[in-house]
Amino acid sequence: MKIALLGANGQLGHDLQAALRRHDVVPLTRNEADVTDFGRARRVLTDVSPNVILNTTAYHRVDDCEDQPERAFQVNALAVLNLVRIANDLDAVLLHISTDYVFDGNNREPYTETSPPAPLSVYATSKLSGELLVRAAARKYFLVRTCGLYGVAGSHGKGGNFVETMIAKAKRHELIRVVNDQMVTPTYTADLAHQIARILPTTSYGLYHMTNEGCCTWFEFARAIFELSGIKADLSATTSELYKTPAIRPRYSVLENSRLKQLGLNEMRHWREALAAYLKEKSFGG
Ligand SMILES: NC(=O)c1ccc[n+]([C@@H]2O[C@H](COP(=O)([O-])OP(=O)(O)OC[C@H]3O[C@@H](n4cnc5c(N)ncnc54)[C@H](OP(=O)(O)O)[C@@H]3O)[C@@H](O)[C@H]2O)c1
Repeated sequence: MKIALLGANGQLGHDLQAALRRHDVVPLTRNEADVTDFGRARRVLTDVSPNVILNTTAYHRVDDCEDQPERAFQVNALAVLNLVRIANDLDAVLLHISTDYVFDGNNREPYTETSPPAPLSVYATSKLSGELLVRAAARKYFLVRTCGLYGVAGSHGKGGNFVETMIAKAKRHELIRVVNDQMVTPTYTADLAHQIARILPTTSYGLYHMTNEGCCTWFEFARAIFELSGIKADLSATTSELYKTPAIRPRYSVLENSRLKQLGLNEMRHWREALAAYLKEKSFGG
């Protein structure tokens, strides 16, 4: 398969290149194909002529999106519609990545692919718009919702991932306060990339939830980072009420990998096991 990989410099993009090494992957960074330059993106992708367009790009500084809705919708929705059109014209499969934030967090049990979305922020609304455009217009697509990504390359768009941020703060001996009332499933991009590589050769198109297994609050995740790495930290729990952010986050955005399980394809391990593997890879304890 020939795969055009957009967002190749990102943490998921980095791990996808390794997971898909058996295929002919053409990595495309923002320099080569800025997805908001619709004409150029079309020319580059038409030249590559891939069987699959794999889009990991996003504007996902969640708080900044509140002040920059145009930019959020440009990258997370309108550029996605452009990719849908290109994929259809090239008869290519589009694989697009979305987010747990499309849900409002009022559930107390994991969201499945059939749960109705109800976004709370500009970022979440722009990502849901991208989803809807894919579902409405793409002829062959995989739409993958995931949660709390961290990977060895670090998040380009966010200026580092949560694990890196926690470790950097601990090394600077900062007091670390982390919310203990937002329940998520942190997901290792190497595991997500491996899971994507499993479904990509199939024709079981459609919407998928793909996260590591289990769930925790961000505070519990931070505590596990320090336990498993052996790094000492002055860590304590706080609440969303005390730690106010411009964008509202869901209190509970745990996703169930229902579709993968139905197909017998779920290979995601528990988040704690994945975290230990990441820390080992980064040479922090393990
Ligand atoms: N991170 C999370 O916690 C999380 C959670 C749920 C879902 N997701 C979704 O997962 C996907 C991958 O996230 P990630 O953590 O791997 O992100 P990332 O590390 O920030 O990578 C995103 C990549 O997209 C590129 N990009 C951004 N705008 C672009 C544009 N206009 N044209 C071309 N490339 C552009 C960035 O390029 P530069 O390197 O030039 O900036 C970056 O390399 C995104 O769709 C995100 O919405 C992420």
